[in-house]
Amino acid sequence: MVQKERSKLLIKHQKGSKIAEQFRMIRTNIEFISKKRALKTIMITSTKPQEGKSTIIANLADVMGRQNMNVLIIDADLRLPSQHYILGVDNAVGLTDILEETLAVNAVIQKTTLHNVDIISAGQSPNNPSELLSKPALTELFETVKEHYDYILVDAPPVIVADTTIVAQEIDGIIMVAEENKTPKQKFQKAMTTLKSTHTPIIGIILNKTKQDKGSKYYYYNK
Ligand SMILES: Nc1ncnc2c1ncn2[C@@H]1O[C@H](COP(=O)(O)OP(=O)(O)O)[C@@H](O)[C@H]1O
Ligand SMILES: [Mg+2]
Repeated sequence: MVQKERSKLLIKHQKGSKIAEQFRMIRTNIEFISKKRALKTIMITSTKPQEGKSTIIANLADVMGRQNMNVLIIDADLRLPSQHYILGVDNAVGLTDILEETLAVNAVIQKTTLHNVDIISAGQSPNNPSELLSKPALTELFETVKEHYDYILVDAPPVIVADTTIVAQEIDGIIMVAEENKTPKQKFQKAMTTLKSTHTPIIGIILNKTKQDKGSKYYYYNK
């Protein structure tokens, strides 16, 4: 079942795949920004659930890994984790264990089937996610993994969840996702204002589920 989920979500890299090309463009933009300022930890968030944050992280990690960049995905959506489903890995241990200081970083990093892509899944859902994510253990984790990876992609809940702004303060850059014709403008603007208050640069906005993506969904995704 997990495998089926994964193959449904990851893009095809055959010649002419427009969506693969779009992800390569995002990768290039990130590389470009990285040359000008420190950008190793990148969080992806959005206004509301289901806008494609987690899917985008997995696909972006894929195109980065293919370009020989060492990538670590960290699932910081402790309330509704999904990276372990998308990438077909175990979620018995993960970020929660690092924050609770019950396991060392090395003990929770897993390999994925994607080239050069590792993951720290969320782990068991705690009942105090905001509190856990506020711990210095998160800052220490980022410091440690920055030494071993080129990029760390952090999956996050929507901006309205306090966890997101807490994590945002610890990272180098934020990417916002919006869903074409669906994300309410006012809510999006409010989310942007909230993010700006963290003083972490918003390095880009991805417009997801555009007409083109939807219309050709089966063309772009493995069935
Ligand atoms: N570009 C896209 N085209 C079609 N479906 C998509 C696209 N991006 C995401 N999805 C689908 O939308 C749903 C929500 O995506 P997900 O990445 O879990 O969102 P979020 O992390 O923002 O909650 C999933 O079923 C996913 O497969
Ligand atoms: Mg998600």
